[in-house]
Amino acid sequence: MIKLQDADDDIKIAAKAIRQGELVAFPTETVYGLGADAFNEKALARVFEAKARPRFDPLIIHIADAHYIEEIADLSKLTGDKRRWLDALIAAFWPGPLTLILPKKPRDSASFVPDLATAGLPTAAIRFPSHPVARKLIEFSGCLIAAPSANSFGHLSPTLAEHVIEDIGSRIDYVIDGGPTMVGLESTVLDMTGETPCILRAGGVTREQIEKIINKELTQRRKDAKNLGALASLRELKSPGQLPSHYAPHTKLFTHEHDEMMALPKKSDEGYLYCSGNLIEDAAKLFRSLHELDSAGYTCIHAELPPEAGIGAAIRDRLIRAGAR
Ligand code: TXA
Ligand code: MG
Repeated sequence: MIKLQDADDDIKIAAKAIRQGELVAFPTETVYGLGADAFNEKALARVFEAKARPRFDPLIIHIADAHYIEEIADLSKLTGDKRRWLDALIAAFWPGPLTLILPKKPRDSASFVPDLATAGLPTAAIRFPSHPVARKLIEFSGCLIAAPSANSFGHLSPTLAEHVIEDIGSRIDYVIDGGPTMVGLESTVLDMTGETPCILRAGGVTREQIEKIINKELTQRRKDAKNLGALASLRELKSPGQLPSHYAPHTKLFTHEHDEMMALPKKSDEGYLYCSGNLIEDAAKLFRSLHELDSAGYTCIHAELPPEAGIGAAIRDRLIRAGAR
């Protein structure tokens, strides 16, 4: 693996590698992604191998201009309000941490996204990242880039180039070091194919922000990841990233509501992660803090759950999953 800096000359080297079917980890505003040419099946297969990711878990296709959506999605299937909502969401949140699930173009179309990228689903996940390095990498390569988070399956998502190098560095070709990511949590995954949009994964854009833009309440999948305990089978999951145990540190993690956390007896061999007054900052630092606590040799980690509102919903979701076994 070769480590590159975020200057244009280095991004051009990485872009060429993408064109040649190689794997490049790169910064986005949410977390680092592991990128491959979305239309190169060999490269896609290597992404699944590098992450030890099951093939049934589809990838997000990253684009560098909103008009590419028309190339890979079949927007004729979005009728009535749905088309209006889509346009409003794109205007409000792209580029940025919102991934849209849309119907794919049919199989006989020249821009049919390979089944390997979408796990055979009739839909594709599409995202236009705002990070300048991500945008340049996509533009310079001339490709659409399929990219999961650049961690091995089920592990913590990387928010620093070092996290990527430690976790999967030996199995990829390049990593572009763009420093710490800004949002720190993955993008919000919003399914646009139902009657009303539905959040499949809480993330950088909040439910409240989305509802305000489309002036409509979103379909609720469930209140809290904690209620997922009796999760039936994997196949029933619309978004496999919604597995109850995900984003997990190696050290056992317990979650606590605020009052419970304050009442815990402090022990020197246990790690503690508190909320600050600023949830945006907490989100940005969440995975980095978990990585640090995880490598500090504690017997367990205690994490305080923030209130459910705004970005707090996404932080709660990740912490509860990190604690699920
Ligand atoms: O912020 C992010 O979204 C980062 C950066 C790198 O862009 N990417 C990321 O990718 O988190 P990944 O692969 O770790 O998570 C993608 C999520 C998974 O939960 C996957 O199941 C879901 O999106 N997904 C992808 N395609 C889907 C589809 N067609 N239908 C439903 N869910 C889909
Ligand atoms: Mg991931």
